[in-house]
Amino acid sequence: SEEMYLHYHGLIVPKETHSYESLEFAQGFKFEDDDVLAVTYPKSGTIWMQEILPLVLNGGDLTPIHTIPNWERVPWLEEKQLARVVDKLASPRALVSHFPYNLMPPSFCTSKAKVIYVMRNPKDIMVSSYYFHQMAGFLEDPGTYDEFMDKFLEGKVMFGKWTDHMKSWRNSELGDRIMYITYEEMAQDLPAALRRISDFLGCNLTEEVIQKVAEHCSFKSMQNNNMSNFSLIPKVYLDHDKSPFLRKGIAGDWKNHFSSEQLTRFTSVISKELEGESFSLPWSL
Ligand code: PPS
Repeated sequence: SEEMYLHYHGLIVPKETHSYESLEFAQGFKFEDDDVLAVTYPKSGTIWMQEILPLVLNGGDLTPIHTIPNWERVPWLEEKQLARVVDKLASPRALVSHFPYNLMPPSFCTSKAKVIYVMRNPKDIMVSSYYFHQMAGFLEDPGTYDEFMDKFLEGKVMFGKWTDHMKSWRNSELGDRIMYITYEEMAQDLPAALRRISDFLGCNLTEEVIQKVAEHCSFKSMQNNNMSNFSLIPKVYLDHDKSPFLRKGIAGDWKNHFSSEQLTRFTSVISKELEGESFSLPWSL
């Protein structure tokens, strides 16, 4: 694992996609007031937002999602790709990040850039992440499901503990610069979620455009979009035969994976870590 990850402010991040240079580049990144950032703990809906944001921001023009791979279209703030594509980004710029709030660059805090924090039930995150570790050649083998659960709960996974990530962003006090949304809300009623996002960003989309965007951001459409399904990435890095990146796309798949003992353990660790927090979770654990 020493070969696969590097350590940054107590977090581990994969070396394939991150370097000290890229992490420092992120720290020096100059946010503009009209930038839009979607923040996620890994496996919470990142690539979904890479599809949604360009369409919401440009009024439903499909060109970017059909011509630019998602990692260049809405790059990760902390990844190596950013330096290469930063000058080519459409305006207003959209980015994604897995950083906890405390690692955001100073320019983010002083800018008026808006941020959408996407949350997902941690049990489904863990399931999704387990399969992702099996298919991603640049991540440590997850071992058994039980072993992976230990690592996940201890935060010995990329970007650390889910609870720390949540606490950092839920307590960030960014006022009307931040909007919270859940994966589950998006899965249940995407047009409604898109209306909320569009209102937050001041985009005033017509109902016709909302419906069009929803159609193109559906799980099926994204599975069929080569610019979004990672089919352009060589198999040694992402092996879709082991598990597709766009794997299941549902809420509640944890029910097919957790034993009742695992559920008890998971729930007790997570609720203990969130004890005394002023925010409540949008789902029951
Ligand atoms: S990553 O590696 O952090 O960027 O992964 P991330 O994109 O955050 O999460 C991947 C999961 O999101 C699901 N996904 C979707 N679900 C429903 N609808 C759409 N359009 C969609 N796009 C991505 C993807 O399938 C992964 O979840 P699982 O549960 O593994 O299917």
